[in-house]
Amino acid sequence: MSTLEQSAGEQRRVAILGSGYTAAVAAEIIHHHPDFKLAVVASRSKAGGRFDWISQDWAVPLHGLPIVIEHPSNIFEDPESWELDAALVTYADAEGAEASETLQANGLRVVDLGGGLRLRDPETRERWYGEDTATDLLASEDVVYGLTELYRDEIREAEVVANPGCYPTASVLGLAPLAREGLIESVQIEAYSGISGAGLGGREKFKDTRGDVVEYGRDGHRHQPEIEQELAALGCHGPVEFRPHVITDVFQGMSLNCNVTLNREAYRDEIETLYQDAYRDEPFVEVVVRPPSMEAVRETNLCRMYVASLDIVKGNKFSVRVVIDNLWKGASSQAVQNLNLMHGLPEETGLPASTLERIAG
Ligand SMILES: NC(=O)c1ccc[n+]([C@@H]2O[C@H](COP(=O)([O-])OP(=O)(O)OC[C@H]3O[C@@H](n4cnc5c(N)ncnc54)[C@H](OP(=O)(O)O)[C@@H]3O)[C@@H](O)[C@H]2O)c1
Repeated sequence: MSTLEQSAGEQRRVAILGSGYTAAVAAEIIHHHPDFKLAVVASRSKAGGRFDWISQDWAVPLHGLPIVIEHPSNIFEDPESWELDAALVTYADAEGAEASETLQANGLRVVDLGGGLRLRDPETRERWYGEDTATDLLASEDVVYGLTELYRDEIREAEVVANPGCYPTASVLGLAPLAREGLIESVQIEAYSGISGAGLGGREKFKDTRGDVVEYGRDGHRHQPEIEQELAALGCHGPVEFRPHVITDVFQGMSLNCNVTLNREAYRDEIETLYQDAYRDEPFVEVVVRPPSMEAVRETNLCRMYVASLDIVKGNKFSVRVVIDNLWKGASSQAVQNLNLMHGLPEETGLPASTLERIAG
């Protein structure tokens, strides 16, 4: 018997595995979603606790949602008793992949927020995420990479979606129009994230650091091969330099400068038109006329970007500034955007398009 209310009408029953930041955001979105029902939240470390109490000092909004957390073994041992339709898995990498495989084998549509299923090349995957655990799932090719704007047709049919990392979401959306046109010679991505990007562990790591911007991952970051994989899929094989930083006083939010050298000269208008055309029909991507702020996309599924020319009139140096909320478009709201498509729903269902709408709702 679920510790939550039983489902009503046609609502699909969704399980959330994990109890960290992305699980809290996902729980809130699913709770307010018109077509999904939050059936259960499961955690190894916090089973028996109330999620809204546990998460009350995280600056993640779980406004009094009275969820008592289950142990995942209760789901894995008898998945049918929960009458689940779908699951969002918010574990780390290999364990997320393994849990996703088990849930898919039990007939659920699954979105895995960890990195274990994202990289298509087995050697690269092993280098960054260790030896495969979900071997049957990976061999089956049932997994679709979940950057919605690039793979929506495939996502509609997918049984398992590998939700993208937060940096790759912002980077690939910010570079896709240029990559698709074969215009990129090289790119350097200066990326800045709030501390929630490092999950619960990040709280401890940065608790004594105030008012600072800390560069990390100088020896390599697992999001670099993911960015390279998706740019290559769009036809861009030029070198990518990726430089991630943490802004220690920001909890959630992500801002990137994608500094691009084009392989030919262009006017700024031409490049801006390319971006406007690429994203005109996208419900959650906006090309804006002034540099966007992280605050303006906080707690939304929006990705905003701004194209600037670094040359006075015409040249080949451009910078694309991109902002998202790492816990929303970079993780949980994009996961729901994908889950919507997997269930034949409009992808906007249950997702506020703006901060204003969110406050009003
Ligand atoms: N944070 C982001 O911005 C972001 C963006 C995109 C993707 N992701 C990926 O999504 C997955 C979930 O991210 P997250 O930020 O929600 O991770 P998280 O806060 O670290 O929590 C994920 C799970 O890991 C376990 N865990 C890890 N560290 C813990 C700690 N110190 N104390 C207690 N439990 C701990 C818990 O499992 P149990 O509940 O079972 O004990 C928890 O549910 C990860 O694979 C991450 O790489 C994160």
